[in-house]
Amino acid sequence: MKKVIVIGSSNTDMVVSTDKAPAPGETVLGSGFFMAPGGKGANQAVAAARSGAKVVFVTRLGRDDFGKNSLAGYKRDGLDITYVSFDKEEPSGTALIAVDKKAQNSIVVAPGANWKLSPSDIKRAEAAIKNAACIVLQQEIPEETVECAIDLACAHKVPVILNPAPARKIKKVILKKVYLLNPNETEAQFLTGVKITGERSAKSAATKLLGLGPENVIITLGSRGVFAAGRGFEMLVPAFKVKAVDTTAAGDTFTGGFAAAFASGSDFYECVRFGSAAAALCVTKKGAQSSIPYRKEVEQFLNHRK
Ligand code: ATP
Ligand code: RIB
Repeated sequence: MKKVIVIGSSNTDMVVSTDKAPAPGETVLGSGFFMAPGGKGANQAVAAARSGAKVVFVTRLGRDDFGKNSLAGYKRDGLDITYVSFDKEEPSGTALIAVDKKAQNSIVVAPGANWKLSPSDIKRAEAAIKNAACIVLQQEIPEETVECAIDLACAHKVPVILNPAPARKIKKVILKKVYLLNPNETEAQFLTGVKITGERSAKSAATKLLGLGPENVIITLGSRGVFAAGRGFEMLVPAFKVKAVDTTAAGDTFTGGFAAAFASGSDFYECVRFGSAAAALCVTKKGAQSSIPYRKEVEQFLNHRK
């Protein structure tokens, strides 16, 4: 089976539960502080690996305890760490996360070493990229690095999955090279101007996103599921019903699960279903990588819902 190459961020998450996230200028009390491995790139890499894919992870850590702990976790999850590099100056990435009583999160990321992941790091990984089933990217690393990876993958005809999070402007020439663009509602609104309130607006945002150039679009809609569209098809796939305690990394788990299913040769709908099941299981537990399920759990979950 061909490999999934995930290129992106590594963070250590510092998480606090609170009744409601603070408004600007407000201090609120929280509880239940814990630290756990996170970062959109790392979460997606771990999700793909736990979903059964062979994963190469390209990231940059600081030379500190956070970096050492992250690397140890990647080894435990069986990620190929050939292209994990360490920055001499910057600390490892960190994220401050508040989870409210509706299980929704607010996140501030200090990228640190992630911001030093450069086009030359990507070029070093060309041998892995050119033989991959797909490459997976997010936006907690510099724009020029994302663009370099997409150009390289495209030159080798390797499909690109871009999770445009956090949101920022993306050049049309880059979006045209993307196989799958998968934003959440906020990112889809940023890219299209369409506020998503239901299926009609999700459809309208998906149509606009397709107009920007990617071959396929999946907008994740939290507990409502996903809206997927591509050449000649569009569909709302409802989420699985579960009791959510913390949605952190739900989107990452969807993306990683989708990529693993894609690498194993599943069709588009099966990839969506597998990613949705993995993400549903993820929201039932606290934390980012601490909540990402294994292939067996996802398969059992799906078998009970046939
Ligand atoms: P994050 O909270 O990590 O930032 P996100 O905003 O990127 O997540 P969402 O759209 O919230 O992503 O969720 C991604 C996917 O996870 C959804 O499309 C759905 O499949 C699943 N999901 C999220 N919340 C729930 C829920 N409450 N119940 C079931 N599935 C869920
Ligand atoms: O998507 C969730 C992730 O966003 C967290 O793990 C945090 O590190 C931020 O990158």
